[in-house]
Amino acid sequence: MRGKSVLLVIGGGIAAYKALELIRRLAERGVKTRAILTSAGAQFVTPLSVAALTGNRVFSDLFSLTDESEMGHIELSRAADLVVVAPATADLMGKLAAGLANDLASTALIATDKPILMAPAMNVRMWQSPPVRRNLETLKSDGVLFVGPGDGEMACGEFGPGRMAEPLEIIAAIEAALTNHGGPLNGLKALVTAGPTQEPLDPIRFLANRSSGKQGYAIAGALAAAGADVALVSGPVEIAPPPHVNLIKVGTARQMLRACEAQLPADIAVMSAAVADWRPESPASGKIKKDDGRAVPEIRLVENPDILATLAKSSNRPRLLIGFAAETDHVRAHASAKRARKGADWILANDVSADGEGRSVMGGDRNQIHLITVETEESWPEMSKADAARRLVQHIVRHFQETQT
Ligand code: PMT
Repeated sequence: MRGKSVLLVIGGGIAAYKALELIRRLAERGVKTRAILTSAGAQFVTPLSVAALTGNRVFSDLFSLTDESEMGHIELSRAADLVVVAPATADLMGKLAAGLANDLASTALIATDKPILMAPAMNVRMWQSPPVRRNLETLKSDGVLFVGPGDGEMACGEFGPGRMAEPLEIIAAIEAALTNHGGPLNGLKALVTAGPTQEPLDPIRFLANRSSGKQGYAIAGALAAAGADVALVSGPVEIAPPPHVNLIKVGTARQMLRACEAQLPADIAVMSAAVADWRPESPASGKIKKDDGRAVPEIRLVENPDILATLAKSSNRPRLLIGFAAETDHVRAHASAKRARKGADWILANDVSADGEGRSVMGGDRNQIHLITVETEESWPEMSKADAARRLVQHIVRHFQETQT
């Protein structure tokens, strides 16, 4: 831990006094701490005591001109090796889960590109309440790490889970996070395909489809947030890659297959790309001209390799191989047959027909998925592609937890 640095966010709770002890323990281990003290946190500990123990000035105001000119909030959130929230209140957890940023602490938490470790502390009923449970699940699937809370008598007089972990427990969790970057999929390699492929007819024309890459990019981002080492093999799309993924750009199905095979072995593969099933047999080397009087050109197609089926048969087959099925009728039945035919472990069926207003899952922002495995079928409600990605990653995490125990 020596030489590492931590950004400590101190939330508003009686357990804030333990944050002072935490800073001392970190200093003993040679870890530098910068602190953000929320306005609620400052009701429990003073900026002066935090500054004295960290040996650094304390940050608390998002709109402070002095602070922003010395160190902007984005830089503050990224300069440390790890962001620790102690105590993590229901408010701070809720803001991060919902993506809200209206003060320095919540902004830094969203802006950071470093792992986040939360030490929750709150009343037992709050901890057990449905909104806090939901937020906890969301944050965990986003890759946020947690330590505690423990059981015991609370400052409010009630008994049960909600007490912030003791400073030495938090130190142990910090040590683990700093050494392995944390995340439930830490140490696992994931391969994701996304977007369309483009199959050339001539140097300027191609066969393709309407896939935007949004679903696959969201899955790659959610896997990376859960700690996986992610290779994203993408056809041509217009969107930016998520942070912490290794983006490999390809054009055709055959290039996509080669790029995927180069990423093996992998623990997880999610094939969300809309790969062209056929390509023009002999693309013209020059522009196909429209000469008056000449017949309309005939384009002969040949079949492309099936990337999913090829990986399923590979001697380096990914341990968990997940395909998608884009269907327009008998969605679940066709998808289920496709899973078996292509040799995937799971298949995510989505209906890609256009709705009454011409919107489709392909190219759109939302999805409604049926997760089909060898033994089970589960239909998810319609949700954003980001939420669908997080839900899939929760299933993947559970799968690896179950197969490892
Ligand atoms: O990109 P978006 O706009 O966000 O849209 C998302 C999506 C609709 C493209 C995505 O959710 C999806 O359904 N992807 C799969 C599209 C598809 O090609 O489905 P398919 O039923 O034709 O193929 C079944 C599976 O085989 C897929 O995992 C596909 O990647 C794979 N495949 C298909 C053909 C081929 N030659 N090689 C393959 O690996």
